[in-house]
Amino acid sequence: MEIITDIQDMQQRCLAARGEGKRLAFVPTMGYLHEGHLSLLRAARAAGDVVVLSIFVNPTQFGAGEDFDSYPRDLSRDAEMARAVGTDWLFAPRASAMYPAGFSTWVEVEGLTGNLCGASRPGHFRGVTTVVCKLFNIVQPHVAFFGQKDFQQLAVIRRMSADLNLPVEVRGLPIVREADGLAMSSRNVKLTPDQRRQALALFDGIRLAAAQVKAGERDSRRVLAAVRERIQQEPEARIDYIQVCHDETLSDLETIGPHAVLLLAVRVGATRLIDNHHLGEEIPEP
Ligand code: PAF
Repeated sequence: MEIITDIQDMQQRCLAARGEGKRLAFVPTMGYLHEGHLSLLRAARAAGDVVVLSIFVNPTQFGAGEDFDSYPRDLSRDAEMARAVGTDWLFAPRASAMYPAGFSTWVEVEGLTGNLCGASRPGHFRGVTTVVCKLFNIVQPHVAFFGQKDFQQLAVIRRMSADLNLPVEVRGLPIVREADGLAMSSRNVKLTPDQRRQALALFDGIRLAAAQVKAGERDSRRVLAAVRERIQQEPEARIDYIQVCHDETLSDLETIGPHAVLLLAVRVGATRLIDNHHLGEEIPEP
């Protein structure tokens, strides 16, 4: 595996590989890899001739007061993990090269970004879509992989790719959970042992909601009230949002039907965690 930091070098290599008829499979990340990222890399390995992983903690998707500075970073650890699952090229550009002086072009998806994380983190998705569009232009992948834990992000990136006719197939892969159900996230390492225990309230809430729906409940308000009550039992949990939304439009649903997704964003201490579950599906097994 080679580590490439120069943008032009990365773009030239990718162009050359495409020219040789190779299929490029891409996994964009912010690093501090975990089993969820590795599942994306394994899928990329199966789907492409050349697997490209990007690691870039993108400053433009963090708002003022968010955790850009404290976001976990360890490139040599990540490189070992990426190499072990067959990554070919690890692209780790510098922020000053991605956003040089004078940078002033942004990619913004409207509509889908108005609710959920888009409402609670203004400007976040503008940063995400801008950097993903740049990364797609640099790597020029045939296929790119994203985790479904970032449900809204995946919908927004799909919309951007369709609207801008980007020649890349965007694939979403299922959430990978710890043995006790906590959705894997690079941010989980920031939890103290007690916060780590409290964070299980998100998965408990999902299980509760899924069980209610399985038993025939269709009123979102009642399901949301039960989830909220479970999460509020934890002393350090602060709900950012808990909503039932349509899986395509991401607008709120009063009645639970086949398109209903439960989406949660909860701060446990200083760490913001997100999770989701499609309410038409079976209760997730960790
Ligand atoms: O999901 C992430 O890790 C990031 O939001 C992404 C897609 C790599 C863009 O910075």
